[in-house]
Formats: sequence, structure tokens, C-alpha cells
Amino acid sequence: MKALILAGGKGTRLRPLTYTAAKQLIPIANKPTIEYGIRSIVEAGITDIGIVVGDTASEIKKALGDGSRFDAQFTYLQQDAPLGLAHAVLIAEDFMGGEPFLMYLGDNLVQNGVKTFVEDFEHSKPNAMVLLNPVSNPSAFGVVVLKDGKIEQLIEKPKDPPSDLVLVGVYFFDHNIFTAVKEIKPSSRNELEITDAIQWLVDQDFVVAPHIIHKWWKDTGKPEDMLEANRMILSSPRQESRIDGQVDQASTLSNMVQIDAGAVIENSIVRGPAIIGSNAVIQNAYIGPFTSIGSGAQIRNSQIENSIVCDEAIIQNVDGRLDSCLLGKGVRIESVHRKPTSTSFVLGDNSSILLPKS
Ligand code: TTP
Repeated sequence: MKALILAGGKGTRLRPLTYTAAKQLIPIANKPTIEYGIRSIVEAGITDIGIVVGDTASEIKKALGDGSRFDAQFTYLQQDAPLGLAHAVLIAEDFMGGEPFLMYLGDNLVQNGVKTFVEDFEHSKPNAMVLLNPVSNPSAFGVVVLKDGKIEQLIEKPKDPPSDLVLVGVYFFDHNIFTAVKEIKPSSRNELEITDAIQWLVDQDFVVAPHIIHKWWKDTGKPEDMLEANRMILSSPRQESRIDGQVDQASTLSNMVQIDAGAVIENSIVRGPAIIGSNAVIQNAYIGPFTSIGSGAQIRNSQIENSIVCDEAIIQNVDGRLDSCLLGKGVRIESVHRKPTSTSFVLGDNSSILLPKS
């Protein structure tokens, strides 16, 4: 069995970060999002992995390499334009060579990985298997209607969802999916929809097994999803405290805290779960729960919690507590003395700032 990881796409909902970076590489607990998917696939015994890439191909290839770091073998499949999940399947036909495969959306996280689903699929051998999860906001996803335990209908992002069961970003297919993706037509948003391809399989009486999961799962499409994923990963029992950097006597650490080599913590409080990347500097600061601080970041005379701070970002002398921030590489937030007293920003397109109102 092979795997196909989708790492192309537009990433519009994560702008401005996705103007300059692939969304699958935005860090969760200081590791690129896509690494969690890769590791869970390898853990399930699949090592021959195709990775669909788009405009950010060079960045993804540079970050992930040939797969040897993960004990796997990667083949990069270039998608000329983000024409939909079913289009990504279409371009993978030669790579799959007739074998069944697991398709994994590179921005999704599934608690405890995919091993049990792989075993299920290999044991029961349906033509396709989809994972479903009940959610409170189904209209943001591919919605599935079941009848007598079988899939009756799949609808992509319906305005008025007929069910609360949505497709998790992990799918299993045999070679029949390639016929399906060739039969369907682009949707109104001009994408080849995977929901339409699966509906085609259902309509042609292929066996499409639904598998309802109640585990935590996250599609990290939006900033608040990234922060939730960061909270989940940091608080997972797999994370263990570790201090490889320097912590002075005046600092206190509590709960799960990981401090990478070269990081310096001075006169600060770090209340985990939190992770401080290599060569980061934390001085006279408070780092609160569910915070990931990237490599080389500097936090001085400031307080922050429940946030993702990417590499080399600087936060200095900021009054009040920063909360729920997603800060890209090299972002700088600083309070300075100057006259007249004013606030000044240099922001890329689609940036957002929420200021407290007194
Ligand atoms: P989506 O989150 O559905 O789409 P997107 O990345 O374009 O984001 P947005 O809706 O915010 O513009 O994509 C899910 C995953 O599949 C993600 O890792 C990107 C990838 N993908 C492709 O590789 N090719 C594609 O044609 C599409 C649409 C997505």
C-alpha cells in the first residue's frame, strides 16, 4: 500500500502567512504541521509516499527532503494549479501503479495517527473507505449523509447541511478512484471535488465504507485551528518535559516545558505546556500555557500565552498580555517611548490585529 499526501493548495484562509510560506510548514509545537501526518503514515507501515506540491514545491522539498529522515521514500508530484483534491488524485495515477493508497491532507492532524484505519482497510478491502466525524459547523466541510449505515450522499460545503458528519482529511482508495476522478466535472468553484468522485463510486455501486471516528481531529485551515492544534499537541501525553537550554535561578518552570539547546531563560516564568525553540531568548517574561516559541525568537519584558511564535520573531516591552497570537517568522512587536504617543504598524496584506478597547 502507498500513501499520497496533499501539500499544494492555495491556503487563502491562512493569509498573510501563506503569502510567504506553505501552510503545511507552519509549526505546531515547533514542528511543521505536515510532519505529524508523515510520521503517522510511516508508523502505520507505509513508506512509499507521493507528495503533491504546488507553488510552494521548493520550500516543501527543502523542508522534507527525500524521506530518509522519516525512514520513508518521497516522490514529489507537481500539480500545476490547485484544481482540487480529486485533481491531486488524478496526477498521482502513474505513481500509484494500481496499488491501493491512503490519501492524507497535509494540513490535517488526527489524534493517535492512522494505523488502526490502515489495518481496517487492508483487512476488509472495500473500494474506498472514508473517515467521518460529527462536528458543530458541517458547512465548512464535505458533508456525508448515511442511510442504514451506508453512504447515500456526499456534498461539498453545503449551505444547509443535511447531516453533522463530515469527511476527515484521511481517505482510502483502490484503483477505481482513478476512473471516478476522470468521470467527474469541475464544480462551481472550478475544482475537481473529491466528494463528487466518491459520490460517483457510491452511485456505481462500489463499496465505500464509512468509518465514524470520535477521536480528536483537526483541519488546520484557519489561524484559530492552528492554535487549537498547538494546544492539543502540547498537551498530549507524548510530550515530556526536557531542558536542554539554560535556565537561571530566578526563573520558574511549571507543567510540561521543553527547552531546546541554546535557548536562554532569564528571570522569567514559563508555565507549560510550552516549548521554547533552540537559541530563543526569554528575559523578564511570562510564557503561559499552550505556547510554542520558535528558534531564535526573543521575548523580553513581555507576556504571552496560547500562541504560536515562529522563528526569529521579537516581542519586547509590550504592556498587557498577548493571547491567541499566530506570529510568522521575524515578526516584531515592540513598545517604544516616542512623542507623540502613537501606535504604528507595518503589516502585509490580510494581516489582522486585535487591540483591547478600554
Ligand atoms: P484545502 O484546505 O481544502 O484548500 P487550500 O489549501 O487551497 O486552502 P484555502 O481553502 O484556505 O484556500 O486543502 C486541503 C489540503 O490539500 C491542503 O494541504 C492543500 C492540499 N491541496 C492540494 O494539494 N491541491 C489542491 O488542488 C487543493 C485544493 C488542496
